[in-house]
Amino acid sequence: MKENPTLELDSPIIDIEVKELLSRGAEAEIWRVNWFGRDAVVKKRVKKGYRHPRLDDNIRKSRIKKEVKLMVLARSAGVPVPIIYDLRLEDKTMIIQYFNGLRVMDAINDGYEVDLKTIGKHIGRLHKAGVTHGDLTTSNILFSPESENFCFIDFSLGEQESSIEDMGVDLHLMREALISVHDNPLELYEEVLEGYREVFNGAEGTIERVKKIESRGRYQ
Ligand SMILES: Nc1ncnc2c1ncn2[C@@H]1O[C@H](COP(=O)(O)OP(=O)(O)O)[C@@H](O)[C@H]1O
Ligand SMILES: [Mg+2]
Repeated sequence: MKENPTLELDSPIIDIEVKELLSRGAEAEIWRVNWFGRDAVVKKRVKKGYRHPRLDDNIRKSRIKKEVKLMVLARSAGVPVPIIYDLRLEDKTMIIQYFNGLRVMDAINDGYEVDLKTIGKHIGRLHKAGVTHGDLTTSNILFSPESENFCFIDFSLGEQESSIEDMGVDLHLMREALISVHDNPLELYEEVLEGYREVFNGAEGTIERVKKIESRGRYQ
């Protein structure tokens, strides 16, 4: 990481005050900012030097666009996601609401009572709408201990017209993530499934698929 990283934008936003870099992954930088007086996050997809510049531009534009689209679909399905304030394709950037909370993984590890049945319901709502998340680990769900609200983030690997396999992968990732953070993992996964079954008619199909995905993993 650079000593003093800065948020680089081709078309600078005048009314933006950059506060801190929250995360820098292989694909994106996440900055906490003040945007027209609102507590917000800038997610910027970063350049990949190994791709032809024009191709890289197009890929990053289409990925950020896809992420916004999936967030809109998730929200209309009743899944809590950050409010989208702006999409700036030229900068491969979206500006979204800052959610004050911690990652579900950290919340569970810190001993907070996290309502996994509600998480299961949200996943069920998403799948009922045909949408999958694609990277449904407990790092991509935020939790506020004060309000007990959740916020689903990071939809960049999701799908809009998902197959049973896509849905199975979502649940499988959730299950794996729960196993990695807690010493009573299967019970936690069962809580997720309870909520999932309650809202989604196709739940059994997905749950069967998760078993297949897992046995494939075992014998590979
Ligand atoms: N809207 C948000 N509010 C608060 N924190 C956020 C928000 N979006 C992202 N973050 C923080 O930044 C991290 C990385 O963001 P994410 O969208 O998952 O990017 P990546 O694709 O790099 O995983 C998250 O785990 C979370 O801690
Ligand atoms: Mg993430």
